[in-house]
Amino acid sequence: MVSAEPGPAWADDVKACCAAAYGTDAVALLLGTAYHPGGLALTRRLAGALSLAPGQRVLDVAAGPGATARLLALEHEVLVDGVDLGEHTVLSAREATVRAGLAERVAFRVGDAEQLPVTDAGYDALVCECALCTFPDKTVAAAEFARALRPGGRVGITDVTVAPEGLPAELAGITGWVACIADARPSADYEQLLVDAGLRPLRRERHDTAIARMVDEIEARIGMFEMTAPERLAAAGVDAEAVRGYLVAARRAVEAGTIGYTLLVAEKPAA
Ligand SMILES: C[S@@+](CC[C@H](N)C(=O)[O-])C[C@H]1O[C@@H](n2cnc3c(N)ncnc32)[C@H](O)[C@@H]1O
Repeated sequence: MVSAEPGPAWADDVKACCAAAYGTDAVALLLGTAYHPGGLALTRRLAGALSLAPGQRVLDVAAGPGATARLLALEHEVLVDGVDLGEHTVLSAREATVRAGLAERVAFRVGDAEQLPVTDAGYDALVCECALCTFPDKTVAAAEFARALRPGGRVGITDVTVAPEGLPAELAGITGWVACIADARPSADYEQLLVDAGLRPLRRERHDTAIARMVDEIEARIGMFEMTAPERLAAAGVDAEAVRGYLVAARRAVEAGTIGYTLLVAEKPAA
């Protein structure tokens, strides 16, 4: 239950609620490998803008099940540390990474994006996918990104955007997921957060259709499980009809331009 009034208790509740929501079997069933719109194709595009070189160190903030971290290690030969607030999520990410044979190059630990458990200037690059929108204190999180980066290092973000008038009312009743995206911002606001943290913007792109595709993919996954393994949906507590209703509302919001998805890259100026 999230506290009603904004404040420290509210912020802690939002974080805990969001981390718990993303650690559930239901989310794993509905979202599959990557917990963000655009999937690994968009992650590859983001990685391509980070000027990565083999052996460099990358921090994945709010790493979720770790698909992004493993992709970076495999395709760019970098060493990746993932941080996520969800204990169950971190355990799952570790297990998947051992199974992928990448445990010597990719590590995960529990931690808060607003208080990263890392030393200053220890990373050549930092990624944060579909998560800045969930952090109650985005200014502090952006300052943490800047602190973790070495001078000349780059931050790459993909995230949910919302029009200046905010989320449509029909999405406001969805607990869990919406508790997470309720504080999404327009793309320019995310960029300004990075600027205020001392980072220099390099790239800003719109990927709104990625959300529409994600909605289609979730719908397809529900249909597939209904046909092949309905007991898995039941065991995970997925109410397929309720989810379909949310998907209709989300699709409408994308079509109306109320929600979208953005990619941002910025650089910490060289000292
Ligand atoms: C939508 S998922 C994205 C996961 C991953 N970045 C991806 O794209 O697959 C959001 C993640 O943010 C994590 N999270 C939420 N608040 C956090 C916080 N304050 N610090 C660290 N992780 C957080 C959640 O536990 C969840 O795993």
